[in-house]
Amino acid sequence: MEFDTIVRNGIIANANDVVAGQDIGIKDGVVTCIGTSLQASASTTIIDAQGAYITPGGVDSHVHLQQRNAPTGDTWETGTRSAVCGGTTTVIAFASQRRQDESIIPVVAEYSALAESNCACDYGIHLILTNPTRDIVRKELPLMVEAGITSVKLYMTYDPLKLRDREILDIMVATRSLGMTTMVHAENHDMIELIIETLEERGQTDPYYHAVSRPQIAEAEATYRAISLSELMDTPILLVHVSSMVAAKHIRDAQTRLLPIYGETCPHYLYLLSDKLRGEHFEGAKCVCSPPLREKPEDLQAMWTAVANGTFTTFSSDHAPSKFNAEGGKIAGLVHGKAVFKKIPNGLPGVETRQPLLFAGVLDGKITIQDFVRVSCTNPAKLYGLTKKGVIFPGYDADLCIWYPEGKMRPFQLTNDMLNHDIDYTPFDGTAFKNWPRYTMLRGKIVWNRDEGGYVGVKGDGIYLKRAASTLAKPKNVFVNEWRPPM
Ligand code: URP
Ligand code: ZN
Ligand code: ZN
Ligand code: ZN
Repeated sequence: MEFDTIVRNGIIANANDVVAGQDIGIKDGVVTCIGTSLQASASTTIIDAQGAYITPGGVDSHVHLQQRNAPTGDTWETGTRSAVCGGTTTVIAFASQRRQDESIIPVVAEYSALAESNCACDYGIHLILTNPTRDIVRKELPLMVEAGITSVKLYMTYDPLKLRDREILDIMVATRSLGMTTMVHAENHDMIELIIETLEERGQTDPYYHAVSRPQIAEAEATYRAISLSELMDTPILLVHVSSMVAAKHIRDAQTRLLPIYGETCPHYLYLLSDKLRGEHFEGAKCVCSPPLREKPEDLQAMWTAVANGTFTTFSSDHAPSKFNAEGGKIAGLVHGKAVFKKIPNGLPGVETRQPLLFAGVLDGKITIQDFVRVSCTNPAKLYGLTKKGVIFPGYDADLCIWYPEGKMRPFQLTNDMLNHDIDYTPFDGTAFKNWPRYTMLRGKIVWNRDEGGYVGVKGDGIYLKRAASTLAKPKNVFVNEWRPPM
C-alpha cells in the first residue's frame, strides 16, 4: 500500500480506545491503514508525533459566523482559520432566518455564498428558524435535508428569534419525520423580560446585571419544558449551551428514562464565573453571553461532572464573536457613557481555545482523554450526520490534531495576540496552558504547524459537508399515551 503521509510514534486516542505503537497511513486525504511499521515510499511524508496524543480533528458543532444580526466579528474565513489553529477541522455554523423571510431557500443560499471557497476547515450549515410557516415546515425543510442541512436551531427567548411552544411542536412534527436534529436554546423569555424591566427601573444596568436577569431557574424551567415538548412528540432534541446544574439534571433524568434528549456545554461554563461581568471600564461586557456565566465554583464543577458522566453529548464553543471596541460591538452597550447591559451583543469568541481548554481538563484529571474525544470530536460528528469525521480509523477523513508530548511544550499564559480570530479580546486572557495543538491536519494536509509557520493552510482548503441524518438522535417510538404525532 502506498501512503502520501505516515504519522508515527503517536498515542492514537479515540472515544473508546487509546492505542500506542501504531502508525497512521494516509492516502488521498483519508486514513487508509493503522498498523505497525507501515512502509514509506520515496514520496511519503513522515510526521513524528514523538509520543504525543493524536486526537481526531475537532468538530465544533455550534459556531456563529457572519450572521446578519451580528455586525462585527469573524467571517467564515477568519473564524475557520482560527478553528484550525486550535485543533478544530470541522465547524457547523448557522444560516439564520429573519422573521420577514417567507422562504428559507434564499437565506441558505446567501450564507452558503459567504462560506464558499473562503473556509480554512470543512464546514456544515444549521438553520435557525424564526418564522416557521406551513410552507417552510412542510415544503422547504425536506429540501434542506436534500442539501445536507439536517439540523435546525430553535429559540425560546430573544424577541427577534423566540418561538411559541406551539410553533416548536409544529416544527418537531417535521424534524421527527425528516430525521433532522433539533437544537433548542432554552431560557424562559417572560421571566427574563420582567426582570430586565425591573432592573432598568432600578437603574441596575451594569454588565453584571445581565447575569442577574437570566437566573438559573429561567434556564431550568425552559429546559424541562423543551424536554416535555420533545417527549410528547417523540422528537429528539439537543439542549444547546447548558450552563446550569438543574438544567443538566433535567437532561440526565430524561436520559435515564431513555428519552432521546441530548445536551451540549461550552468552555466558558467550565471555566468562567459571573464575577467576570464586573470590572472597570465596561470590561465586564466582554463576558456577556446567554445563558450567562454562573455564580459559584460548584456550578463549574457540575458542568465538568456532566461532561465526564456523559450527560453532555457535545462540547461546542458557541463562538459568537462580537468585537469589544467597534461599532455594533460590545461597546454598543455603553450609551452616552452609561452602561446598558441589554444593548450588549451576546456571545463569546472561543472557536480556537475550545480544544486546548478541554484538553487542560484531561491534564488536570477532570476528564479522560476518551471523554475529550467523545464530546468534542466523535459525538458532534454522529449527532449531526458527519459520517467521515470525528474518528481515527480507516475510511475516515485524515483530520488529526497532534498535541505536544508531555513536558515538551513551554507553558504559556494566553494573550489575545496569540489567537488567530478577528476579535479584539479573548475571555480567556491570562489562562495558563500546558499543551496546545502542535499540528492540525485537514484531510491529510497540515494546516497548522505551531512551531514552523503557524497557520500554513490557504482559504478554500475547507469544503462544504453535505450532512446525512443523525446516527445518534432518533425517535424512540415511545409515546405519552395513545395519541400519536402526525407523520
Ligand atoms: O450568548 C450567546 N450564546 N449568543 C449567541 C447566540 C446563541 O444563543 O447561541
Ligand atoms: Zn419580549
Ligand atoms: Zn443559543
Ligand atoms: Zn450560539
